[in-house]
Amino acid sequence: MKITVVGTGYVGLVSGTCFSELGNEVICVDKIEEKVNMLKGGDIPIYEPGLKELVQKNQAEGRLSFTTDLEDAVKKSEVVIIAVGTPSSESGAANMSYVYTVAEEVGQAIGSDFKVVVNKSTVPIGTAEEVKRIILEKNNTADVSVCSVPEFLREGSAVSDTFNPDRVIIGTECERARKTLIELHKPLTDQILLTDVRSSEMIKYASNAFLATKISFINEIANICDAYGADVVDVAKGMGLDDRIGPKFLQAGLGYGGSCFPKDTKALIHLAEEKAYEPQLLYAVKDINDRQYQRVIHQLNGIFGEDTKGLKVALLGLAFKPNTDDMRDAPSLKIIEEVTELGMEVVAYDPIAIERTQELIGDKINYAKNVTETLQDADVVILVTEWDEFKQLSPAAIKEQVRRPVVIDGRNVFDPNQMKEAGFIYHGVGRQV
Ligand code: UDX
Repeated sequence: MKITVVGTGYVGLVSGTCFSELGNEVICVDKIEEKVNMLKGGDIPIYEPGLKELVQKNQAEGRLSFTTDLEDAVKKSEVVIIAVGTPSSESGAANMSYVYTVAEEVGQAIGSDFKVVVNKSTVPIGTAEEVKRIILEKNNTADVSVCSVPEFLREGSAVSDTFNPDRVIIGTECERARKTLIELHKPLTDQILLTDVRSSEMIKYASNAFLATKISFINEIANICDAYGADVVDVAKGMGLDDRIGPKFLQAGLGYGGSCFPKDTKALIHLAEEKAYEPQLLYAVKDINDRQYQRVIHQLNGIFGEDTKGLKVALLGLAFKPNTDDMRDAPSLKIIEEVTELGMEVVAYDPIAIERTQELIGDKINYAKNVTETLQDADVVILVTEWDEFKQLSPAAIKEQVRRPVVIDGRNVFDPNQMKEAGFIYHGVGRQV
């Protein structure tokens, strides 16, 4: 199948590359010439395990190409996938300007042959209809079906998530488009759910909001565990053994970050409010998440009193989660903001996200080259991201470097008993057993 993918961000680049690996002819389009040239050269602008090799392989084998020429790409393709960003605007609503600009450009290029246009970006309910209206406004002879096939890939495991999805949702009203999209996605999974377009758009928001709810729920339980001396790790394990609950997404921590959950919960709240519905549960999910990082500040105050000025903080991890250099809505940024305001000095280390952090906050903090350097003479260690490298640290190895044996473990990576036996003041999340 001949496919154009517009947008070479996480979703666009990964799905375009994976579709080419399945034998389709894929043209990836991006407005940014620099990015296109980089991709043509076989380099990728994001950190994603396994992706670079696939981009290089499929380009070399002639199934994958990159261009800034949207018109030419659309003319050559049967399927056009829109995978541009829908960032949060001030109000919390998704900013749809990129999607709508692409719709206009597709409308100008589309001609009169039948084409299937697919929204893969996370978009407000009703977007497919709006995209179709814009396309027809530009070309009223266009023979087009606009569908919704939301993407559920996670950063850090995007390639394997795309090849092994739990399900593919195809939202369409048109039989011809349905057939095309089933054929395109069949090699990925047998679990294809066919819905109307609006339900498909809603499935993406509802799924992300539900996962965000699970995280805020377990964080709330963790905070109550702390007050009563229960261990949230055991509590989550015990809950997760119930098939109806399941063990995933019940890791208490410093809250969810990244490019999707914060943005999508806000956008869903906004969609509800636009129809005069107050989504009380979603308000609470967002509120708990907005506050969760502050437990680190309370713990610092609990340990050191109000006098935290001049304390040396060793910050382990910057990225919003392991295996990515993505800093969008990373809890580390909020923690850095507050502890530096309180006069503390921060030395941070992350296996890959230091460059991205420097672009955002420059020299507000110091950056170390490795874990040992980070820990040296620290008054307190704060673990923010659960990289494997940090999980392997022994209490003895930490103790050797630090000035004071104090660990605030924001991702419950260490064993509280081992830490206490080694003489540490140790605070996890929901583990004050
Ligand atoms: C998420 C969705 O999983 C994916 O389906 C969607 O397409 C995009 O958004 P991603 O943002 O890459 O993917 O990361 P994910 O692994 O889902 O984690 C999101 C955030 O939740 C991270 O900050 C992570 O630390 C946090 N999290 C996750 C927890 O705090 N506890 C958990 O148990 C799971």
